Formats: sequence, structure tokens, C-alpha cells
Amino acid sequence: MQLFIEKDYSAMSKKAAQIFAEKIRQKSDLVLGLATGSTPIGTYKELIRMNREENLDFSKVVTFNLDEYYGLTPDNPQSYNYFMFENLFNHVNIQKENVHIPDGRASDIENYCKEYDNQIEKYGGIDLQLLGIGVNGHIGFNEPAEELIVGTHLTDLTEDTIKANSRFFDSADQVPTKAITMGIGSIMKAKKIMLLASGKGKAEIMAKLLNNNLVTTTNPASLLMLHQDVTIIMDEEAASQLKNL
Ligand code: F6R
Repeated sequence: MQLFIEKDYSAMSKKAAQIFAEKIRQKSDLVLGLATGSTPIGTYKELIRMNREENLDFSKVVTFNLDEYYGLTPDNPQSYNYFMFENLFNHVNIQKENVHIPDGRASDIENYCKEYDNQIEKYGGIDLQLLGIGVNGHIGFNEPAEELIVGTHLTDLTEDTIKANSRFFDSADQVPTKAITMGIGSIMKAKKIMLLASGKGKAEIMAKLLNNNLVTTTNPASLLMLHQDVTIIMDEEAASQLKNL
């Protein structure tokens, strides 16, 4: 595991974007796994800047997003589809046919999810997977549980997650209660994983993740410790409860 502690959100975002850009420059048809939420917005902004000012070319890049709220249509401003176009895809030269985001309208959900994982395989697997972390340790929407599901699947969101995500909605009862998410196995198959964490709100979960030499499904992010190529980039606030630095 590689750990970078950057001064603040902006420095964390720049570091993450730098690594993304290096990878895209090494392999123009890179397969990216992408996340939504507050954490990656700065990274996406920096990638947009690099696309405009430094010829960072997305024309062959392929993307797979981690998750989508179940029941939301892609044109719903709260959907993760909408988020990705607003915050990245509309501003870089990516080809729309290379973008994959779970569809919140999917009906035959079991087959739909199987097909999502098959598509990832068809492109040769994810080269670089970007992750945020929930305050409860979730990655994607793999919520803390006794058992975790390997492949892409439909899941119930926990109260913690609904509460945390209600900041994007008018009220908590408008937050969808289910989501389609890549499974823990879909994530762990990525060749490289980059986890970002920013702000005081993430200090406790990052301490739980990094201070204890433990793997548990009740902290899904801890499974990342078993992956051979994980880079964690966090800011000083998120790192404020780490021991032995
Ligand atoms: C988003 C996702 C989630 C978020 C996590 C942190 O696609 O999969 O796991 O990464 O909830 O969200 P923020 O960044 O808003 O704190």
C-alpha cells in the first residue's frame, strides 16, 4: 500500500489527478473505474483542466462507474449518471459509447448486473479504480455486513448512508433506499485502486482502517488491505487520527 498525506483537499485532488494523467498517458485506452460523491469532484476538475490545457486525451478512455441509485433516471439531477456528465464527461473529449454507468431503471436486475461485470471483463478489466469511502467504511455501496456480495448487485442503503447522502437532496426521505453497486469482488479485481479521503468527517474511519491491522466485512474498505496495488491519498484532516506516522 502506498500512502500520501496531502495538505488539503486541493492538494489531494491534484495528486490523484496526476496519477490518473500518468496512467492515461501510458495507455490511451485505459479502463477507469469511477466514483461520485463530494470527494472526487476536485480530481475531476483537475482532469478537465489537464484535458484543456495539457492535451490529456480521453478519446480512447473507457469508464465504468461504481454505482447508481435504483429508481432514478439518468436525467434526474440527483442521479449518478447526471453527476458524472456534469462533473466530468461533458467537459472532456470522452466518447459517450465508452462510458458505462449502472442504469437505475434496469428491470431484469440479476441479468443486468451480471452483464455489467461481463462488460468490464470484455474490456480487459479495470486498470485504475477510484474510490471514496463512506463514514461507515462502505466502498461503492458495499455497506458493512456479515457477508459481502462479490459481483455487481442491487443493495439496500444503510441509515448512515441515507443520512450522509441526504445533503444532496431536499430531505432524507427523498434519498433512494436502494442502489446498484459494483460488488466487492468487482472492485478488488481492478489492477490498481486509488482511495481518496478528505476532511475531519473521514478521520475516524481512516483511523479504523489504517491503525488496526484488521480485515473485516463490517468495514468493507478494510478488504482493500488485501489488494496488491492500493494507493491511499488523504488530506491532513482525514489523517488527523492516524497513529505511527
Ligand atoms: C460514490 C460511492 C460512495 C462514495 C462515498 C463517499 O460513487 O461509491 O462509496 O464514495 O459514499 O462519499 P463522499 O465522497 O460524498 O464523502
